[in-house]
Amino acid sequence: MTSALWVGTSWKMTKTLAEGGAWTTGLRDRLDGTAPAGVQPFVIPSFTATTAVAGILGEDSPVLLGVQNAHWEDEGAWTGEVSVPQAKDAGAQIVEIGHSERREHFGETVETTRLKVATALRHGLTPLLCIGESAEVKDAGGSSEFILDQARGALEGLSEEELSRVVIAYEPIWAIGEKGRPATVEELVAPFAALGEVYSGKVTGLLYGGSVNLDNAASLLGIEHVTGLFVGRTAWNLEGYLELLRIAEAHARAAQ
Ligand code: PGA
Repeated sequence: MTSALWVGTSWKMTKTLAEGGAWTTGLRDRLDGTAPAGVQPFVIPSFTATTAVAGILGEDSPVLLGVQNAHWEDEGAWTGEVSVPQAKDAGAQIVEIGHSERREHFGETVETTRLKVATALRHGLTPLLCIGESAEVKDAGGSSEFILDQARGALEGLSEEELSRVVIAYEPIWAIGEKGRPATVEELVAPFAALGEVYSGKVTGLLYGGSVNLDNAASLLGIEHVTGLFVGRTAWNLEGYLELLRIAEAHARAAQ
């Protein structure tokens, strides 16, 4: 059995409630209650929009909802933080953990990603663990080793059952955002081979992220062990996201 291709977006720090509401309403109406065959859509808005997006999607939506971060403690004196139970209460099913922007600017470490993965799992949410190396590490030939260390560190000690509920997104830092450049398929084969050797079939998904666009999505999905896409800019526009879902659906059909 082939499992669904996970294709989703984090809005990062973009969109007002009105903008996010329009995007979500459009998605809900265009999907009309059914995910594209073989595809698992997901959306990760800002915290402020979580309940609004949950309300628009409604119960039994084919679109999973996530948050971009959550604390490892269930509650307490952690000013400015949001807990996993609070995220769950707001309607989240996924917790994004360890995005490179959080590692770079907000002190996220392998240890905090490990704590957060464990807490998300304990509350029945899907940890979406982001890993990725810098250009310096890549240029020194250390990509695979670096991302395996990040993954192993965050997933250390999990049972097989717990690991099976984790999604990993490999997002090389040099390929992310305005300053990034799209990775070529050739550059991604070796890192995904390394990840696939350890995690293929053992986790819910092995996603690629970083400058995914309408031109490269199909070939990225064709890389061995890639089972989904985690997308920023291209998907912030609803038509872009819908087109990515169509590309993934076509890929899933062809792979049947
Ligand atoms: P991007 O962002 O698609 O805009 O490069 C990707 C990410 O950070 O997940």
